[in-house]
Amino acid sequence: MIDHDAAPTPLVTRRLYTDESVLEREFATIFTDSWLLVGFESEIPEPGDYVTRRMGRDPVIMSRSESGDVHVLHNSCTHRGTQVCKAAFGNTANFRCGYHGWAFANDGRLRGMPGRRTNYDPDLDVSKLGLKQARVGSVHGLVFATFSDRVGELDEFLGDYRWYLDRIFGFFPGGMEVHGGAHRVVIRGNWKIHAENFSGDGYHLRIAHRTMFDLGVMGEQAGATKGFCVSTPQGHALRAQYVDDPALVDTVFGYPEEILEPARRKDLPGAMEFRAASSVIHGVLFPNAPLITTAPVQFGEDATGQTAFTQVRVVTPIDVHSHEVTYWSLVPKDAPEEWRRKSYLYSVRQHGAASYFEADDLENFRRIDAGLGGSGGADVPLNYDLGIGVPLGGEAPFTGPGTVVSQDFSEANQRNFYRRYLEVLDEVVAP
Ligand code: FES
Ligand SMILES: [Fe+2]
Repeated sequence: MIDHDAAPTPLVTRRLYTDESVLEREFATIFTDSWLLVGFESEIPEPGDYVTRRMGRDPVIMSRSESGDVHVLHNSCTHRGTQVCKAAFGNTANFRCGYHGWAFANDGRLRGMPGRRTNYDPDLDVSKLGLKQARVGSVHGLVFATFSDRVGELDEFLGDYRWYLDRIFGFFPGGMEVHGGAHRVVIRGNWKIHAENFSGDGYHLRIAHRTMFDLGVMGEQAGATKGFCVSTPQGHALRAQYVDDPALVDTVFGYPEEILEPARRKDLPGAMEFRAASSVIHGVLFPNAPLITTAPVQFGEDATGQTAFTQVRVVTPIDVHSHEVTYWSLVPKDAPEEWRRKSYLYSVRQHGAASYFEADDLENFRRIDAGLGGSGGADVPLNYDLGIGVPLGGEAPFTGPGTVVSQDFSEANQRNFYRRYLEVLDEVVAP
């Protein structure tokens, strides 16, 4: 064992992916005592704008009230529990329940009840009957929420990962915004397989996605790359890879010079070194928000025409065998419109729900689900030893916080994901 990975490998049993009681426990702990990504402020720019989402099992409305504040409201009437908003998105001053007609303002307050004057006590305190409000926090326009009082402040939850969020979503002075709305699909497979894949699985790229390398889509990334994995005690993680060619550093990002220049002047410490060493970054905001950002200029001539893109997802379990994925593409606000459209196109084409990378990944997630089986092989644990006992690949090419493991292929992040997962689950799951 080498000391860069001295923590014991968590025992990942198949039951974590097949047992309904584990999923119940996840809803009660992982999805309750975490700040969950709900969406982006740029999805609801105007007062009255809203989108509906799910936090674990809870249906929620993310809305912007008349005062401009962002609210995350339990989408459940305080009369009988009916969902008060059925649409995926829209603009409204009131959410009117379809059962008995109680009307809630877009900040959650109960504003009207049919027959209020004649059929209810005039002293009834309606201020207590508003929709339940989640705690809300926002970082670079990413909106997080939690209904739990047990979890600390958002800053504490993000910990050292904030440094990386600043350099991905806060890199451009004008910020980033959603382009093309949210896309939603339901896919086969346990949600954790998806989350851990994004946390650090560089190992599958040349096998599962081999066709993309053969077609030249990955350009020079098909040759030798270097990479590193970063993880934090809160379970957040990212892996980055880059072509080890100093000549490419000045051409980083593939963003138009007119928006790259202000970013250079912003002088965020370490940002250039980090992004220059990251032609592809994929990661996960624990527990369930994968992200990916690419800078394909480093992909070389074969990949000419490709455009940098940034994508964020949320994966939410439906049952142990399936989960819903919400995809967002983000573009710098200040980029030219044509460039923004192209970036969106590549985000959707490469990593959208029906993209060529996604086809490979979703098929593997489905096959994992098919391969887990029932009781026959339930006692065979899954293996997470990749990188243990292997020397590091030299110094990391930047200085950033968290545990940085300078290995291109490593399961350090997945081990950390499950360490944190089991810590929050607070239960030993036997095979
Ligand atoms: S359930 Fe909503 S008004 Fe009765
Ligand atoms: Fe993949």
